[in-house]
Amino acid sequence: MKDILEKLEERRAGARLGGGEKRIAAQHARGKLTARERIELLLDKGSFEEFDMFVEHRCIDFGMAEQAKIPGDGVVTGWGTVNGRTVFVFAKDFTVFGGSLSETHAQKITKVQDMALKMRAPVIGLFDAGGARIQEGVAALGGYGEVFKRNVQASGVIPQISVIMGPCAGGDVYSPAMTDFIFMVRDTSYMFVTGPDVVKTVTNETVTSEELGGAKVHTAKSSVADGAWDNDVEALLQIRRLMDFLPANNTEGVPEWPTTDDPERIEMSLDTLVPDNPNKPYDMKELVLKVADEGDFFEIQEAYAKNIITGFIRIEGRTVGVVANQPMVLAGVLDADASRKAARFVRFCDAFEIPIVTFVDVPGFLPGTAQEYGGLIKHGAKLLYAYSEATVPLVTVITRKAYGGAYDVMASKHIGGDVNYAWPTAQIAVMGAKGAVEIIFRADLGDAEKIAARTKAYEDRFMSPFVAAERGYIDEVIMPHSTRRRLARALAMLRQKKAETPWRKHDNIPL
Ligand code: HXC
Repeated sequence: MKDILEKLEERRAGARLGGGEKRIAAQHARGKLTARERIELLLDKGSFEEFDMFVEHRCIDFGMAEQAKIPGDGVVTGWGTVNGRTVFVFAKDFTVFGGSLSETHAQKITKVQDMALKMRAPVIGLFDAGGARIQEGVAALGGYGEVFKRNVQASGVIPQISVIMGPCAGGDVYSPAMTDFIFMVRDTSYMFVTGPDVVKTVTNETVTSEELGGAKVHTAKSSVADGAWDNDVEALLQIRRLMDFLPANNTEGVPEWPTTDDPERIEMSLDTLVPDNPNKPYDMKELVLKVADEGDFFEIQEAYAKNIITGFIRIEGRTVGVVANQPMVLAGVLDADASRKAARFVRFCDAFEIPIVTFVDVPGFLPGTAQEYGGLIKHGAKLLYAYSEATVPLVTVITRKAYGGAYDVMASKHIGGDVNYAWPTAQIAVMGAKGAVEIIFRADLGDAEKIAARTKAYEDRFMSPFVAAERGYIDEVIMPHSTRRRLARALAMLRQKKAETPWRKHDNIPL
């Protein structure tokens, strides 16, 4: 018996070594942790239960029969807990065949995906791999297909998170692309469909991996990634923090964590957040941080389309999605990128029953050929559509401008806002007073005095929250300092919200 037990320990120890000490050292020398070290950091101490440690590939082509088989086959899979809540995990092991995906490697991943869906628990994938196992050909492609299909079946049912921690190329990019969030590690990770060599051959472009698909590119330019951190350790600790905000699935509801932050907390400084001059910017993040429990804000897509802010906070210990125009960037205007960014966030929240708070200070949609040629109509419609189809509690606070179509889009009463507040500084109108007068009174354009008087009259009548409040489009004009209290009360009241939509196979959001 002793021998048998020792043999098991030996086999386990061998499997844990993956591609061997030399390759592990090379991984460390590149500033990267190994798959198992990453899992240890991601999960609660000692909670990892591994599956399929002894699985090996079955390939006999291109020298694979002669090579020593490596147990685990390039991916470490299993489950564990994050702050006591179950999550399923797979981590590509770059030390084994470059983490490349074989038929059996794919089967290990799909087992975890199937278990996660059955248990209605999140899946976290850690990527560090060279794409399809080239020696296996179509067997590897088939494996990818099995993974992709399950990504889609699980979408909107359980949260799926991807963390890119090394190369992520070819077939490996499309599974993350269909998950809810992608995060990267700066300087050590990159994602692309085809690498620099193929790019050079096909387009004659010379480009480095970092320039083609590094964290900077994907967080600030392409919007493929939702955030990035400086190293593996920080990334994994931040993923733990994110998991605390997310529900386990689409029916369980948001987690509730103990908080010592009084929901009645008053913030007098908010009374002076909006400057006297309506064209002067102010930082909307200050409002987000001041209403959040303990000022804790997990921002999504921080580096992309900064004219809109998206992310998670808690109020009374419960997760809330925040969407907010940012007057500091492009005056908070809605453009194609901001609309897409916010639409995807709103849809995530709606799918997972996370209430949404919207802070509005928007001068309208961005005019110009660049925007129109770029499909502003279709992209703007995504956000309008996302809010209109949302059935989660929607609470809206207009702090200053809510002009034109953007007023409707930003969770207005008309498209489903449940509780709509405005600060006394709100200006809810078709457009700014000067622009409006110049159109209505075009004949008076030469008469500066007349135009000024009419602009003043327009401002007095429309540049306030009261015309909307008179019609019930705004439920209440609130004191800025009591915003947190008002939000907490509204969200508590809306907890039991039930909204039914007619049966359909699926909707047809403008893509
Ligand atoms: C088999 C692979 C591999 C792969 C890497 N390795 N990628 N083995 N299949 N796809 C092996 C290498 O042979 C090497 O083995 C070890 O992993 C480490 O790789 P290196 O090249 O030494 O590492 P590095 O210099 O860091 O380069 C990493 C890399 C590079 C950039 C990822 O390996 C690379 O370009 N790999 C190929 C990428 C690719 O074209 N993949 C196929 C995409 S097609 P030894 O034993 O020498 O250490 C695809 C189609 C799917 O994925 C589409 C589905 C929709």
